[in-house]
Amino acid sequence: MHSLQRVLPVQRSLRRGPLAAVSWLLLRTCRAHSSLPSMASPSRERQENGVQKDFSSRLATGPTFQHFLRSASAPQEKPSSPEAEDPPPYLTEEELLGGQRKVYLETYGCQMNVNDTEIAWSILQKSGYLRTSNLQEADVILLVTCSIREKAEQTIWNRLQQLKTLKTKRLHSRMPLRIGILGCMAERMKEEILNREKMVDLLAGPDAYRDLPRLLAVVETGQQAANVLLSLDETYADVMPVQTSPSATSAFVSIMRGCDNMCSYCIVPFTRGRERSRPVASILEEVRKLSDQGLKEVTLLGQNVNSFRDNSEVQFNSAVSTNLSRGFTTNYKTKQGGLRFSHLLDQVSRVDPEMRIRFTSPHPKDFPDEVLQLIQERDNICKQIHLPAQSGSSRVLEAMRRGYSREAYVELVHHIRESIPGVCLSSDFIAGFCGETEEDHLQTLSLLREVQYNTGFLFAYSMRQKTRAYHRLKDDVPEEVKLRRLEELITVFREEASKANKTSVGCTQLVLVEGLSKRSVTDLCGRNDGNLKVIFPDAEMEDYINPGPKVRAQPGDYVLVKITSASSQTLKGHVLCRTTLKDSLAYC
Ligand code: 5AD
Ligand code: SF4
Repeated sequence: MHSLQRVLPVQRSLRRGPLAAVSWLLLRTCRAHSSLPSMASPSRERQENGVQKDFSSRLATGPTFQHFLRSASAPQEKPSSPEAEDPPPYLTEEELLGGQRKVYLETYGCQMNVNDTEIAWSILQKSGYLRTSNLQEADVILLVTCSIREKAEQTIWNRLQQLKTLKTKRLHSRMPLRIGILGCMAERMKEEILNREKMVDLLAGPDAYRDLPRLLAVVETGQQAANVLLSLDETYADVMPVQTSPSATSAFVSIMRGCDNMCSYCIVPFTRGRERSRPVASILEEVRKLSDQGLKEVTLLGQNVNSFRDNSEVQFNSAVSTNLSRGFTTNYKTKQGGLRFSHLLDQVSRVDPEMRIRFTSPHPKDFPDEVLQLIQERDNICKQIHLPAQSGSSRVLEAMRRGYSREAYVELVHHIRESIPGVCLSSDFIAGFCGETEEDHLQTLSLLREVQYNTGFLFAYSMRQKTRAYHRLKDDVPEEVKLRRLEELITVFREEASKANKTSVGCTQLVLVEGLSKRSVTDLCGRNDGNLKVIFPDAEMEDYINPGPKVRAQPGDYVLVKITSASSQTLKGHVLCRTTLKDSLAYC
C-alpha cells in the first residue's frame, strides 16, 4: 500500500489573488515497490535502508508548507539558473546532483513536448546528469507524454509494459532503473499513474521541470516522487533549451504556455494550465543566439501563439484594447494591455533578415490586421498560416465553444488571402464530435473543398475526462462512423491539397535545404516558404552568393528550385542556384 506522507492539496497563488489558481503538489514518499528489497542484493538493500532512514528522519523536519508556498508564489525571485536554487531542507546539495547518472528521454506528442524535452534536459544537464541515446545503459528513463487523445495515452501504457521488463532485469544487475512520466499525462492522471503502474517512480507536470533534480534525488532513496503543480507564470524564460541536433537548420522557440480558451473537447487547459507569455526580451535573446549559431529558421511556439501578451513590465500594461479577428469572440473576459503578438513578430523578424520566421499553433480569433499586414510586408516571415477550423458546421462549432461560426471563419480566410496573396493555409479538423450529424459532416467536407488547404491534420474525436464535453455532452457518434467520416475528410483533403499544390508547378521557389531525402540518397530535401516539403536531385548549381565554381547544396543553404510536379504532401523539382533569402525575391 502506498501512503501519502505529505499531500498539499489546493495551493492558491498568493501573487495574483487567492482564487486565481487551483493547483496542487504532491510529494509521495512511499516505498515504490514492495517486492524490491527481496530482489535487491543485500548490500544494496542495506545501503538503501540506510539512505531511507536518514532521508525519512530529515523529511520529518521538513519540508514545511511554507517551503512549497514560497516556491509556488514567488516566481519573480527565481534565480537566473535553476541550479542556483537553495536545496530543500531535507536534501543535501550533493544529493541533488545527478552524479553522471545517464538519462534517456523519449518524447511523445506535439512540438511543445519536443521543446519541453529540451527544457527538461537543459535542467538535468546543469545538475550533473548525462544524456544517453541507448536505452540499455540508462539509469533514468523519462517519457515526455501527451494526453490529447486516448490513443496517445494508450501508447504510453504500452511503452511502460515494455519498460517493466527492462526494469525487472536491472534489479539483478547494477543500479536500479528509475522511470518517470513527464508532461500532460502526469498532470492529467496525477497519482493515479503511480497507483496503476507501480514501476513508475516519478511524475512531473509541464510546469514542474525545474523540480526534476529534487524529484530524482527523492526517487534515488527508493521513494516515489511527484510534482504536478501548475503555475500562473512559469515560462522557463531563463532555461535555454539544448539544441539536440547540432546540424539543425531550424529551431523552435517557446513564447507562451497554456491555454485559456476551453474548447469543449480539449484537455490542454487542464494539463498545461493558464495562458502565460514569456517576456519579449528573453525571446529575442534566444533568437539572437540561434542566429549567431547560424540557424536559418525559427518557429515561435505556443498553445495559442498569437494570443501572446507580455505583461511582465508595468509600462507594457497601458489599456490598449485587444483586436480580435472580425466575427470572433472569446470564452473569457477580454484581456487588455501587454505587448502583443504583432510587436513580438516585428521584433523577432528584425533580428536576422536571413532567418525565416514561422509560428504555431495559432487560434483564428487572434489575427487582427496588424498581424496580417506584418506577415505580408516582412520578407522573412513565411506566408504560411495554420488556421485550425475543427469543423465546418456552425452548430458543431458552437458545441465545441470555438467562438466563431463557419461564416466568420470563411470570411477570415478570404480576408487573409486578400491581405497575403499566395498564402499557404493549413488546418486541424475533428471528425465525429458529440452530436455531429451527417449533415454537419457534409458541411466540414464542403469547407475543406471551399478553402483548399495545403496541409491538414485530421483526427477522430476522443472524449477526454474533465473537459466540458465530458460533463455536458454525449459521445454519441459510434466509433465506426467517426472513422468512416475521418477517412472521408482525409480523401477530400488530399484531393484539394493536390490541386492547391499543383498551382506551384512551373514556379521557381526558395527552398531552405534540410539534408538528404529519406527516400533516396541522390535527392535532397528542404522546405518552401509555405512549409511544404520539396525534393530535388543533389546536383551542381550556380552559386549566386560567391560567383565562381559550381557548388552542391548543403543543409542550411537557401536554393532556388524550379517546381516540376506536386502531390498532396510534396513538391518535386530541380535546383537552379544557391542564393540568399533577400536576393531570392528578385526571382520568385
Ligand atoms: N479528440 C480529437 N482531437 C482533438 N484535438 C484536441 N482535442 C481533441 C480530442 N479530444 C485536436 C484538435 C487540435 C489538435 C491539436 O488536436 O484538432 O487542434
Ligand atoms: Fe485546446 Fe482549444 Fe486551447 Fe487549442 S485553443 S489548446 S484546441 S482548448
